[in-house]
Amino acid sequence: MSASIKDVAAAAGVSVGTVSNVLNRPDKVSPATVARVHATIEDLGFVRNDAARQLRAGQSRSVGLIVLDSANPFFAEVARGAEERAEAEGLAVLLGNSGQDGSRESAYLDLFREQRVRGVLLTPSDLAASVIAHPGIPLVLVDGEAPDGSVPSVAVDDVEGGYLAARHLLDRGRHRIAFVGGPLAVRQVIDRLEGARRALAEVPDAQLEIVEKPTLTVLAGREVGEEFARRAPEDRPDAAFCANDLLAVGVLQGSAILGAIRVPADLAIVGYDDIDFAQSTVVPLSSVRQPAREIGATAIELLLESLDNPAKTPRRVRFRPELVIRASTGG
Ligand code: RIB
Repeated sequence: MSASIKDVAAAAGVSVGTVSNVLNRPDKVSPATVARVHATIEDLGFVRNDAARQLRAGQSRSVGLIVLDSANPFFAEVARGAEERAEAEGLAVLLGNSGQDGSRESAYLDLFREQRVRGVLLTPSDLAASVIAHPGIPLVLVDGEAPDGSVPSVAVDDVEGGYLAARHLLDRGRHRIAFVGGPLAVRQVIDRLEGARRALAEVPDAQLEIVEKPTLTVLAGREVGEEFARRAPEDRPDAAFCANDLLAVGVLQGSAILGAIRVPADLAIVGYDDIDFAQSTVVPLSSVRQPAREIGATAIELLLESLDNPAKTPRRVRFRPELVIRASTGG
């Protein structure tokens, strides 16, 4: 049985109210008493009951964040940006990973509602109208938008990002471009492909091949690269625009593994996100940069705005993507 606040008070020789002040309003207690109470908490292994505190205070100190893939460095950066901004407000961020699975996403939303978090930042597994229409909790969409603008959102213009990537490959003289994507149900993949289509429409003899994979991971990309390498040279694309950097890293590895394909000479590759690792691959990756940390911080800003004024018209923030050119496209 863990120690109670009464046990701590008795052991430290103070009142329960003093222990509560040490935890919630330490500025009202002498430094010596604060130190003695914290030492006692440490000795007894006391853990505060935040649910009880929340009931008294009427609100939680935490925010939920549900991402598509917590193993993807892009979302780790989004989470870091959200944490840094949240900490400035005395809030903590609780992370959930939906794994692109709608049922996991719903389970985390239910859990965060039960935990009475202040709100939820959600990268939707698909823009499920039910979640957005009836969130039952203050919601901010991250890396996605509500079609009707009914909830605040922060994202990058992925159509523009897809255009920048494909236009760059065309400008490098590549005309057989493969779009290597994840599920074409994922909004980010759909928009990036749309941008690529718009760029190719500007060059009459350019060809687009769509390679859809079930996940946006290095392994999925590697399978694509190895498949390219098994093709006869005349059947291979001369460029690959990958829907994110993890796929691009995989394509780079898979296409080069048999020594059949040289990057960029035979195959130019562009990724998306510009994760830190993109700069240090064996052939540094060109990529479309998303300001991931700013996206996370802005999501917290939008949540605070909606908490301060629920009647305020939801704000939609859309960052501009930036093409970063490196060796994988001859930069
Ligand atoms: O989750 C798939 C991709 O969508 C991520 O890599 C990131 O680009 C996000 O926008």
